[in-house]
Amino acid sequence: MLLLRILLVVFFIFAAVDACSPSDRAALLSFKAALKEPYLGIFNSWTGDSCCGGWYGVRCDPETLKVTDISLRGESEDPIFEKAGRTGYMTGSISPEICKLDRLTILVIADWKGISGEIPKCLTKLSHLRVLDLVGNKISGEIPSDIGNLNRLTVLNLVENAISGTIPASIVNIGGLMHLDLRNNQISGEIPSNFGKLEMLSRALLSRNKLSGSIPTSVTKMYRLADLDLSMNGISGLIPANIGNMPVLSTLNLDSNRISGEIPPTLISNGGLGILNLSRNGLEGQIPDVFCPDSYFMALDLSFNALKGPIPNSLSSAKFVGHLDLSHNHLCGSIPIGSPFDHLEASSFTNNDCLCGNPLRTC
Ligand SMILES: *[C@@H]1O[C@H](CO)[C@@H](O)[C@H](O)[C@H]1NC(C)=O
Repeated sequence: MLLLRILLVVFFIFAAVDACSPSDRAALLSFKAALKEPYLGIFNSWTGDSCCGGWYGVRCDPETLKVTDISLRGESEDPIFEKAGRTGYMTGSISPEICKLDRLTILVIADWKGISGEIPKCLTKLSHLRVLDLVGNKISGEIPSDIGNLNRLTVLNLVENAISGTIPASIVNIGGLMHLDLRNNQISGEIPSNFGKLEMLSRALLSRNKLSGSIPTSVTKMYRLADLDLSMNGISGLIPANIGNMPVLSTLNLDSNRISGEIPPTLISNGGLGILNLSRNGLEGQIPDVFCPDSYFMALDLSFNALKGPIPNSLSSAKFVGHLDLSHNHLCGSIPIGSPFDHLEASSFTNNDCLCGNPLRTC
């Protein structure tokens, strides 16, 4: 008799842990119904009542039994993928019913290649959302204009989709945003001028879009920004003079834009900057002669600009220059001698006006 009672108690505990709230269950089933996953059967477990126990990719808060995470990655090491010997593929769209999961904190629907449709506008009502990761799909339409309502968001990752429209002005209100990745979409318009308000941001990756306008000077105030990638857009104007004073900036990619003016000396003298790509712009003037013993460039690419004058002598004092490309400019004079140059090939210097010295012809 006692044993039976214990068993019953155990049974109810497990039953309670497994079942999610009926409204969450209904929302999950609508979400599933709008998607088609023909190869792996990742939704096979999404049946019955125990959506908090064993539905693939779903997690709940054990106390409230509300769904907190949906994490569905099309490229993963999960046995489901190894067994099928392929990566994921899904079509369909993200049902707005997902917005009824009012305790959702993590939404990852990544690398399914074929999911189309728009980001449901109602997603911005999910005030607990911390991670929104929809990379590697075919999602179109715009980023919801009130994305700034998601004030707990730390990660917004929409890379490799077909998203158009502009970067919503409200984005700067996401005070805790740390990682913004919008690469490889069709986003146009200007970067909001007060973008620098995102003071927790450490990576701002906006390359391969259709952005125009200039680099907002407010970015120079972003004291946690380590990686700024604006390459392959239509960005014009000058590089903000103070950009090189940013304390933790280590990668700056501004290549393939329409940036003009001169290279700010702070960029060259910043010892923390390891990757600087300014290739394929309209930069003029001379390369600032401010390299110093703590300059450590894994890659320094200034090719395809209109730079003139000599290669600064101070470059020989740099601690390390891994990959240097100064080709396709109007540089002239003798190539400095020193350890940063020993390993470089002629291609680093070709198509200039009158450079000479090793590895080019002797002067
Ligand atoms: C710099 O950008 C150019 C043009 O976008 C690209 O071709 C080149 O490979 C980049 N350089 C480095 C070192 O990554």
